[in-house]
Amino acid sequence: MRASWSLTPPTNVTGLHPRVVVGLTGGIAAYKVVSVIRSLVERGCDVHVIPTESALNFVGRATLEAVSRNPVHDSVFDGVSEVRHVAMGQSADAILIAPATANSLSAIAEGRADSLLLTSVLASTAPIVVAPAMHTEMWEQESTQANVATLVSRGVHLVGPASGRLTGNDSGVGRLAEPDDIVEAVLAVLAPKDFVGVRVLITAGGTREPIDPVRFIGNRSTGAMGVALAEAARDRGADVTLIAAHLEVPTPRGMRVIDVGTAAELRDAVLREFVSTDVFISSAAVSDYRVASPSPVKLKKSSGVPTLELVENPDVLAEAAAGKGDRVVVGFAAETDSGNFEAELARKAVAKGVDLLVGNLVGESQGFGNVPTDIVLVNSEGVRVDEVSGSKAHVAGRILDRVSRQKDSAR
Ligand code: CTP
Repeated sequence: MRASWSLTPPTNVTGLHPRVVVGLTGGIAAYKVVSVIRSLVERGCDVHVIPTESALNFVGRATLEAVSRNPVHDSVFDGVSEVRHVAMGQSADAILIAPATANSLSAIAEGRADSLLLTSVLASTAPIVVAPAMHTEMWEQESTQANVATLVSRGVHLVGPASGRLTGNDSGVGRLAEPDDIVEAVLAVLAPKDFVGVRVLITAGGTREPIDPVRFIGNRSTGAMGVALAEAARDRGADVTLIAAHLEVPTPRGMRVIDVGTAAELRDAVLREFVSTDVFISSAAVSDYRVASPSPVKLKKSSGVPTLELVENPDVLAEAAAGKGDRVVVGFAAETDSGNFEAELARKAVAKGVDLLVGNLVGESQGFGNVPTDIVLVNSEGVRVDEVSGSKAHVAGRILDRVSRQKDSAR
């Protein structure tokens, strides 16, 4: 029987478990960082929390150990034989300081070494992300601003602070950034940078074909897979353009987004953008048919049961692939027939002329939204080259690994 839980973090986008040191410093926002730690573990990170003494007044060691799935140390005199006061920093792939208090920003900027967290920071060459949280007056204080400017000039990544309700009755700048934004910032510094200078065009979501002004023919695609690909490409340094058709997930930041509604609008946008891209990933569910003459007014029940005449939409992917030159073109295939799955993928890969085809089985309760997914990748000849299971972020990373290899061999 398969256990429904596991102590091993899921494999991350690179197939490894990057080691993230989370420096928890003494502010009330420390309780929110528990969910940041949990998300990092879920995204495949091996998280080691180093709390300051005052942070432990806000969140208990047991909570941090349970959520990070690792022992929590906070003293330079713990594990002396392992030279832990520098080993944790030396072995880190990234360090997150969250919440970063005014005091901790000052100590890091000054290069102090009077806690396990500070010796770890000093002993590390890994990228550092700081997520400050404090009252507005403290944040705006010249000394704090000077410390932040020093850290940023040394390459430290700043996430937040946001503006909003603070701990007392006050509100203003100084609130900890949203946990998801902090997680994204950490994953961004961990990502390999193999797409720097590469232009990536991605379609995501599902098109809608109007029947009348209020009704349409659509599909259940949420855009989660396309958005995961766009975010992964962005984090790996790509210059991303996302053609978004009715996304049901938040619109990603750090890229150009072109909103489209119908298959015809998506086609126009793709053909316009395709000329200036290096990689095209067609993950949108594009309607194969549209209504021949959508009604300009709402269809009335009193007019009787309507008959819809459908006409075929052009296959945008096949059209783009036909003029692909040395671009890398990736298609998707959503299938419901598991018996014929692989044969159908092979057929589509060849028929559409793509470099890679990502196949997944979909159904009523399978494949849609931010849920784990299983995919099979086939090459231009329809031969299986990889299979991946996991979160959409994980799967997106593996697809990009393949694209990265393909673009290198095309050069
Ligand atoms: N696609 C496209 N234009 C269309 C239909 C699909 O560009 N009019 C693209 C999708 O973005 C996806 C791929 O084609 O990358 C596969 O779509 P899918 O619906 O699985 O394949 P079809 O060719 O429509 O085949 P079938 O409906 O017979 O399964």
